[in-house]
Amino acid sequence: MGFPLRFLSSLLLCLLALLLQRATVTSGCFSMEREALLDFKAGIHDTQNRLSSWVGQDCCAWAGVICRATTGHVVKLDLRNTNTLDGALRGERMNSSLLALSHLRHLDLSFNDFSGIRIPEFIGSFKKLRYLNLSSTYFMGGIPARLGNLSSLYVLDLSDALYVDDYGNGYPVDNLDWLSHLTSLKHLDLSELNLTVVPDWFSSVNMLPSLQVLNMSYGGLNSIPVSVVHVNFTSSLTVLDLSFNSFSSTLPKWLGNVSGLTSLGLSSCEFLGTIPDAIGDLSSLTFLNLGNNFLLEGIVPRSMANLHRLKELDLSVNQLSGTLTGWLEQLTNLIVLNLSYNLFNGSVPASVGKFSNLTGLYLGGNSLGGVISEAHFESLTKLRVLDLFDNSITVSIGQSWVPPFQLRVIYLSNCHLGPQFPEWLRFQTQTQELTMHDCKIAATIPNWFWNFSSSTVTLVDLSDNRIGGRLPSSLSFARLEELYLDSNIFEGPLPAMLPSALDTLYLSNNSFTGQLPVWPHVSLALLSNNMLDGDISSSICRWTYLRYLVLSGNNLFGEIPYCLGESLQDLSILSLANNHFSGEIPNTIGFLTELKLLQLKNNSFSGELPLSLQNCTNLQFLDLAQNNFVGSIPFWMGENLSQLAVLRLRSNMFSGDIPWQLAQLGRLQILDLANNTFSGSIPHNFGNFSTMASTSDNGTFIYDLFDISTKGQDLFYIKDLDLLKSLDLSNNRLIGDIPEEIGDLAGLKNFNLSRNHLKGKIPSQIGGMKLLESLDLSINDLSGSIPESLSALYFLSYLNLSYNNLSGRIPTGHQLQTLNDPSIYMGNANLCGPPTSKSCHNNKTAQNNIQEYEKEISEWLWFYISMVLGFVMGFWTFCGILFLKDAWRYAYFRMIDDMYDRIWVQWQLILRRLFER
Ligand SMILES: *[C@@H]1O[C@H](CO)[C@@H](O)[C@H](O)[C@H]1NC(C)=O
Ligand SMILES: *[C@@H]1O[C@H](CO)[C@@H](O)[C@H](O)[C@H]1NC(C)=O
Ligand SMILES: *[C@@H]1O[C@H](CO)[C@@H](O)[C@H](O)[C@H]1NC(C)=O
Ligand SMILES: *[C@@H]1O[C@H](CO)[C@@H](O)[C@H](O)[C@H]1NC(C)=O
Ligand SMILES: *[C@@H]1O[C@H](CO)[C@@H](O)[C@H](O)[C@H]1NC(C)=O
Ligand SMILES: *[C@@H]1O[C@H](CO)[C@@H](O)[C@H](O)[C@H]1NC(C)=O
Ligand SMILES: *[C@@H]1O[C@H](CO)[C@@H](O)[C@H](O)[C@H]1NC(C)=O
Repeated sequence: MGFPLRFLSSLLLCLLALLLQRATVTSGCFSMEREALLDFKAGIHDTQNRLSSWVGQDCCAWAGVICRATTGHVVKLDLRNTNTLDGALRGERMNSSLLALSHLRHLDLSFNDFSGIRIPEFIGSFKKLRYLNLSSTYFMGGIPARLGNLSSLYVLDLSDALYVDDYGNGYPVDNLDWLSHLTSLKHLDLSELNLTVVPDWFSSVNMLPSLQVLNMSYGGLNSIPVSVVHVNFTSSLTVLDLSFNSFSSTLPKWLGNVSGLTSLGLSSCEFLGTIPDAIGDLSSLTFLNLGNNFLLEGIVPRSMANLHRLKELDLSVNQLSGTLTGWLEQLTNLIVLNLSYNLFNGSVPASVGKFSNLTGLYLGGNSLGGVISEAHFESLTKLRVLDLFDNSITVSIGQSWVPPFQLRVIYLSNCHLGPQFPEWLRFQTQTQELTMHDCKIAATIPNWFWNFSSSTVTLVDLSDNRIGGRLPSSLSFARLEELYLDSNIFEGPLPAMLPSALDTLYLSNNSFTGQLPVWPHVSLALLSNNMLDGDISSSICRWTYLRYLVLSGNNLFGEIPYCLGESLQDLSILSLANNHFSGEIPNTIGFLTELKLLQLKNNSFSGELPLSLQNCTNLQFLDLAQNNFVGSIPFWMGENLSQLAVLRLRSNMFSGDIPWQLAQLGRLQILDLANNTFSGSIPHNFGNFSTMASTSDNGTFIYDLFDISTKGQDLFYIKDLDLLKSLDLSNNRLIGDIPEEIGDLAGLKNFNLSRNHLKGKIPSQIGGMKLLESLDLSINDLSGSIPESLSALYFLSYLNLSYNNLSGRIPTGHQLQTLNDPSIYMGNANLCGPPTSKSCHNNKTAQNNIQEYEKEISEWLWFYISMVLGFVMGFWTFCGILFLKDAWRYAYFRMIDDMYDRIWVQWQLILRRLFER
């Protein structure tokens, strides 16, 4: 009875109160709130006039200002900048008058630029605030602890809210203790803040029992508790993103308890160890990313099969092993599956073909085998990315198969596809990238291929197959940027016209014939080892974007034109080796300041080295061997070309003294001056070549040549090169002694002074060249005894001391015993002892030798310790066998000669791989 009355009266009171309140509102909004907003506007530089509507009385009608209809109070201020290019409000000043918006529940300043000021403390006094978004606002300084007063907050987004300087250093956040008061918080984003020094971030976050979404990615966090007694948010949390931190621990055990998780991002966290079985308890997961941790290992637990709601699974770039069967089959809802760069083996289950929503299948870089057939693709109508490269998979698909998909990316390199050319590709009309390097295809390229995805494809790699046929005179791929057809059996003329986007063209190791066209847009052209002919001197200068030009091994002729230096200023690599080029190196070479490699080997070039070559200070590889160059080695070569790693002037007509300045080339690892007419003596400072002196494999000029260090994952492709360090001065007219200092070149593998007029003793210091494999001092005037230290060169497998005036007893150290061919010593009338037939006993010289031997025992004591090792290594594993059989020995000598060429070949391989995806 009293109830309706009381109800009515309170309703009336309410209405009255509302009316009274309305009365103080002047035309739509409270004046205090309007003044506060105008004050806020005054502190902002609004370049794009985004706040132009902030005039007049009714602030509730202003852009970004939202009032509650019933009360007229401003409850929401949404100034998010949606135009990320420009349109940011620049905050210059913000004062606490804004607090007049006492009913504010929602404040969004995201993507504006506050890099001049600090996050104002007073923001912590908006008592009713439920939503605060300061994402990407670049405030200076830290985060005020007073934000902890916002006890009604449920969304707090501070991602990238603090200024980051030009060096990528962000203001550090010193603690997160204040977080623990935000007990209503459901959504917390602290990503891209510098949290490196926050003590115990987890405890702060663990105080938030209602948390649903937590993002702390890119935080610089370096620890995470692996086992915690109690995790407060286990029942509420659905999204957890901790990716891009460096935890260096195993995956936390408590993760399995957070059973409501739908999304878990733990990529690039340096997690190690195995994936726990408990992962299978997270049966609500639709997104799971454990990629790029590098060290996650072991097999994928079978419990993973429980995660059948998964839409996206990324385990890439780890050490995970085992097979895909037993768990993958169950994940039928997958849209993206990325298992690339692991150690998975076994075959790909055919049931993958039923994952009808799959768009991306990334399995590259594993040890998978078996056969993939049509069944694997049965229902994959949405597949866009197929990445199987670098496995041992056989793709066995009938030539009449019509695929259900339209792929954008096809990576099949190293799969076994051949011998036929895959016909199903003809139905792919939207492909952007196709790689089929080394797919065992032995077929003529079908005509339809020249229309393959012709309006979309940007990269085609068919290298290392046995694909033949001719290229059309004009390639019609409108967007093609990179084309790799090297190491096949293509023939006929090169296309005269290439797509203008084409920048990288590898056609080496084929049988192309005819002239070299000019492709003005191509900047990387590798055409070595074909049968091209013609004179390129008049056309080459029109090829103005050239950076790499490799024409070695053709029948080309003509001169290096004068215009080259002026026209091809970006030229970094030029190889004309093994052709019929002639003429002098033009003076304009000095304009090619980017030049790193100049290889003119085996042509008919003549004249002297131009003075302007000293301008090419980036030169690392200079190979002028087997031409008709004359003149001396200029002293500036040693002073200016300080990057030189390889200097090869072999088999020319160079003459004069070898300048001592060369020894300043600290990176030099191959110096080959053989077969010229150099005279004078060997400079005494030749022991100073510091790379040759280093026994570490540090002469990796190939590494520097391509600036690989700046390219991140390309490091992956660097193989351990057996990098030759070699000094060859043979077949010249050198006189004088062998300098003792030469023994400092401890990293040398090949040392050749034969066919000169060197006198004096073989310095015992030569035993310091500990890695020496080949030593040739033959055909000189060397005298005295053979130093005992030679026997300590336990890698020595080729030795030639013949035709000198050496005398005395041949040392008998262990390694030398393996070199028992008498021809090594022949032409030295006064040598005795094995392997010569002369005996040394009761002979004065022999006794001297014994004394010397004893002296050297102490000098080279440590060598004797390693000698046992040397004998085992040098003899049994290699030389022993080698010197039993003549045919093998000759093969080995040829190998030493070819070693340099091997480096070149490897270098080309690397070059090619660098540009491979
Ligand atoms: C984070 O802050 C620490 C402490 O000031 C600093 O040493 C570090 O360079 C910062 N790191 C980044 C990535 O900003
Ligand atoms: C869980 O949260 C409550 C309230 O926020 C807090 O008192 C408690 O210490 C938290 N538990 C842990 C283990 O941090
Ligand atoms: C594919 O996705 C659709 C819509 O997202 C869904 O209804 C369907 O069940 C999915 N199919 C499979 C096989 O998961
Ligand atoms: C060396 O290079 C500079 C500019 O890179 C150029 O001005 C100069 O003429 C060059 N000198 C020679 C000798 O080519
Ligand atoms: C030395 O050079 C000449 C030409 O200069 C060449 O004919 C000869 O084959 C070369 N000899 C060696 C051993 O390289
Ligand atoms: C190789 O090591 C030596 C000695 O450490 C050093 O002097 C030389 O510069 C290094 N060479 C290269 C190419 O890094
Ligand atoms: C010592 O040996 C050398 C070479 O074998 C020989 O020529 C010489 O006659 C020998 N001298 C004596 C005294 O036997």
